[in-house]
Amino acid sequence: MSLELIHLDKTYISKEDGKEVEALKDIDIRIEEGEFVSLIGPSGCGKTTLLRIISGLEKPSGGKFLIDSQDVDAPWLQVGLVFQEFALFPWRTVRENIEFGLEMKGISPEERGKKAAEYVSWFGLDDFGNRYPKELSGGMKQRVAIARTLINDPKIILMDEPFGALDSQTRLSQEEFLLNLWDRTKKTILFVTHNVDEALSLSQKVIVFSRRPGTVKKIFSIALDYPRDVNSDVFNGVRREILEYLTEEGM
Ligand SMILES: Nc1ncnc2c1ncn2[C@@H]1O[C@H](COP(=O)(O)OP(=O)(O)OP(=O)(O)O)[C@@H](O)[C@H]1O
Ligand SMILES: [Mg+2]
Repeated sequence: MSLELIHLDKTYISKEDGKEVEALKDIDIRIEEGEFVSLIGPSGCGKTTLLRIISGLEKPSGGKFLIDSQDVDAPWLQVGLVFQEFALFPWRTVRENIEFGLEMKGISPEERGKKAAEYVSWFGLDDFGNRYPKELSGGMKQRVAIARTLINDPKIILMDEPFGALDSQTRLSQEEFLLNLWDRTKKTILFVTHNVDEALSLSQKVIVFSRRPGTVKKIFSIALDYPRDVNSDVFNGVRREILEYLTEEGM
């Protein structure tokens, strides 16, 4: 599914003192069906806010967004959000975490158990289906979080710095896993990161935001084959250019 953001604004108004915080200003972005797009920008420039708006958790103050060229009343039915923190239920096992969305939809225990078992396997968690989140490594927890979102079959996946808390080795293997998953499912992905190399390794487009209020500063198209060579001249050239933009924004 395609996603179109049209003149989107967001201003928060503090409940305590009525002060306004302008988080996003005049955002115009179009993401095509099946595209992998990264969003990068300074802390506080409204990246999480944008994902929360697209998921329907927050209302924009102005402008609108369209999914497949249509206004949507209940975007959460088509959009899956993977949070900045893992946000797993500690009292549920891996399998129970993964089948949560199906349970909410009222799918029978047999059917959802079967489906969750498929995802446990697919996500390389075979020996851990009956374990609790605290018994997992960071990478595994993040895979559970992704599986839990994907089992609902969202057409658009939004990811908010999903690998930010992982060590660099685990991060690389998670990135590889995500690219395989994208290749296999052809989902549309909007991925927020602070890491330029991560954005460049994964995405077809990198959108650079200005500091708050977040505006689109520059969109880079990355027409390189996967897996990408992080030492190639082209990769180095785009990396340098993106870093220059980010430095200008004080990041
Ligand atoms: N619920 C809220 N009420 C009031 N202000 C908010 C709320 N959520 C976010 N903000 C403010 O909006 C701005 C954007 O916040 P947001 O979390 O979207 O930034 P971000 O780009 O995701 O930052 P980071 O990279 O640190 O995660 C910040 O100034 C923040 O303080
Ligand atoms: Mg954020």
